[in-house]
Amino acid sequence: MRIDVLTIFPDLFTGFLSTSIPANAIKEGALSCHVHDIRAHAANKHRKVDDRPFGGGPGMVMMCQPIFDAVKAAESSDSELPAVRVLLSPQGERLTQPRVEWLARQPRLTLLCGHYEGIDERVIEDLSPLEISLGDYVLSGGELGAMVLIDAVARLQPGVLGHEDSAAEDSFSVRSRDGAPLLDCPHYTRPREWNGREVPEVLLSGDHAEVARWRDEQRLARTRARRPDLLAHAPLADSQPLPAHNNHKSAVHVARPTRSNGSPDGDAGPHGQTAPEGA
Ligand SMILES: C[S@@+](CC[C@H](N)C(=O)[O-])C[C@H]1O[C@@H](n2cnc3c(N)ncnc32)[C@H](O)[C@@H]1O
Repeated sequence: MRIDVLTIFPDLFTGFLSTSIPANAIKEGALSCHVHDIRAHAANKHRKVDDRPFGGGPGMVMMCQPIFDAVKAAESSDSELPAVRVLLSPQGERLTQPRVEWLARQPRLTLLCGHYEGIDERVIEDLSPLEISLGDYVLSGGELGAMVLIDAVARLQPGVLGHEDSAAEDSFSVRSRDGAPLLDCPHYTRPREWNGREVPEVLLSGDHAEVARWRDEQRLARTRARRPDLLAHAPLADSQPLPAHNNHKSAVHVARPTRSNGSPDGDAGPHGQTAPEGA
């Protein structure tokens, strides 16, 4: 998978991309990540990327031209790979695991990071990105959102996580028998007793079937207690449900055909993007 990031703060990505899972994904060849400075595309002598808002008011607005040219320049490399454009925005669709899984299956993403009051609406309309929000709060810029997205899709690339099953058994990917996304079970490691607290006996029993059953129960109980809303989730339509501990469906990577404008075929969602499974 290829990811291009468009930002006015490219240095923010240096440490991030050279550490932990994103760095592993790059080292394994599962991910290539290219960070582009929007400022380098400003067609004015001071490399200005923002200006005052029409109509007055506080703050500055990112201008169309540098962003448009930066996106076009980035996407002109490896142009045979169609890109899904993503704008990080508090006004976008809230990021969820089904959307992450869908994005992780795309051959290429172009991530656009806004700043200041935001981006001139006309270039958003022209580029027609999928708008993704981290949540109902406002950040100073889209860079943290881009990093969240890169991390979440990098760990789903084949061969990136140490243990093949670990992504499939994480919260939101693991499913109940009737297809609802669940939270993960609790985890324990050495020592067997710490601060007067014991590891649950069943995990020391060596009985794999019992351990699997206990974990399934824990996932369900935790989800009921902490996120009952997930249990109201629509069941998966296209598969015979598997036991939660054996359900790898949501981490399977299937290449999807994409249209030449980068938006995937299928039911068009907002901005012409296909809705993720289970959304
Ligand atoms: C200060 S914010 C602009 C907020 C905008 N005036 C509004 O109220 O909708 C600047 C940039 O940070 C990013 N950003 C802020 N909050 C975000 C969130 N919750 N999710 C994703 N990106 C966010 C976006 O790229 C946005 O263009």
